[in-house]
Amino acid sequence: MAKNRIRVGVIFGGRSGEHEISLRSARSIMDAIDKDKYDVLPIGITKEGQWIAGGDPMRTLTSGEPSAGPAALLGEPGDSTLKAIEPVNETSRSLTDIATIDVFFPVLHGPFGEDGTVQGLLELADVPYVGSGVAGSAVGMDKVLFKAVMQAHHIPVLPYQLVLRSEWEENREAVLERVMAALDFPVFVKPANLGSSVGVTKARDREQLADALDEAARYDRRLLVERGISAREIEVSVLGNEHPVASVPGEVIPGDEFYSYKDKYLDDKAKLLIPAPLDERLTEQVRELAVASFKAIDAAGLARCDFLLDRETGELWMNEINTIPGFTSISMYPKLWEASGIPYPELIDRLIQLALERHADKKRSKTTYEPES
Ligand SMILES: Nc1ncnc2c1ncn2[C@@H]1O[C@H](COP(=O)(O)OP(=O)(O)O)[C@@H](O)[C@H]1O
Ligand SMILES: [Mg+2]
Repeated sequence: MAKNRIRVGVIFGGRSGEHEISLRSARSIMDAIDKDKYDVLPIGITKEGQWIAGGDPMRTLTSGEPSAGPAALLGEPGDSTLKAIEPVNETSRSLTDIATIDVFFPVLHGPFGEDGTVQGLLELADVPYVGSGVAGSAVGMDKVLFKAVMQAHHIPVLPYQLVLRSEWEENREAVLERVMAALDFPVFVKPANLGSSVGVTKARDREQLADALDEAARYDRRLLVERGISAREIEVSVLGNEHPVASVPGEVIPGDEFYSYKDKYLDDKAKLLIPAPLDERLTEQVRELAVASFKAIDAAGLARCDFLLDRETGELWMNEINTIPGFTSISMYPKLWEASGIPYPELIDRLIQLALERHADKKRSKTTYEPES
């Protein structure tokens, strides 16, 4: 029996500001996964980026106790064995096999995990993994690239301006003039590649805009300034590979002025309404747009698609896509599936199966080419 179980390498922690959120999501997944079918090998990544495994990396990451050691995946095609790295002497280290992984489940939010970087390593190793590939992850992470792709697919996004940190530092006046000529206040300023509302500020005048750009520039070299609206926040979960399906929509009622970091993780005042109280037409529209945006960025496995519904005009705007959304058992992504008929443990099961299917499908592509002479 035990021999037939699929070994899942759950990867959590990581170098992003969302490290702690990742631990929460991973803990929930490891608790709920079907243990008759899957064997979990927990793999932690420290805030410095060191992979640790071979013991209880969750304990090491939460309490600092050294209960797991340095580990690595080499990124060589066909080698999905996680190695323990042990010092031999001052100049050399040895690698010992910990376990061979059948499928990886990256539960990493934000940069260095949700953005295609870890996916790149898993591609090099040629192993199945849950979620989007390199391009889908990278485009889903970068809010500016994402908007450009949405525009190319005629999916409505709020008007915006890209500001490079370098140009902001070189000529603040010119940037302020350009942004204010293009957009009316209020605006939202965000780092292009982050999540959890870190570095996101609402600006109502020129001075606040400058402060907001300074704040976002602490986190990224690409900054997004966007028209700010008074909006309802509607979210839809998408599941699948090439034939993705959408859940019922949910609505977030922020407890703060907007859905800030504090509101998401600290205050516990935000409310989730599932399903979102929308009429049938809007419900269908958000579900269709969610699937369309998922396909447009070549996402795979899962993604949560977040919309802003203008309270005044009724216009629906695609705001962002999260290719590794919060995944605790009480997070929006799994809650929406629960309300749509897929309980949490079954959702985990489906995601792993989708990972295996996608890898098998990719294997059908030739990797060599012999031109006819
Ligand atoms: N253009 C906007 N108009 C109104 N509110 C916005 C706008 N952009 C962002 N927000 C608010 O800020 C929150 C975080 O922004 P978001 O783009 O979702 O970034 P993150 O990836 O950090 O979640 C949103 O959930 C919403 O409450
Ligand atoms: Mg968001």
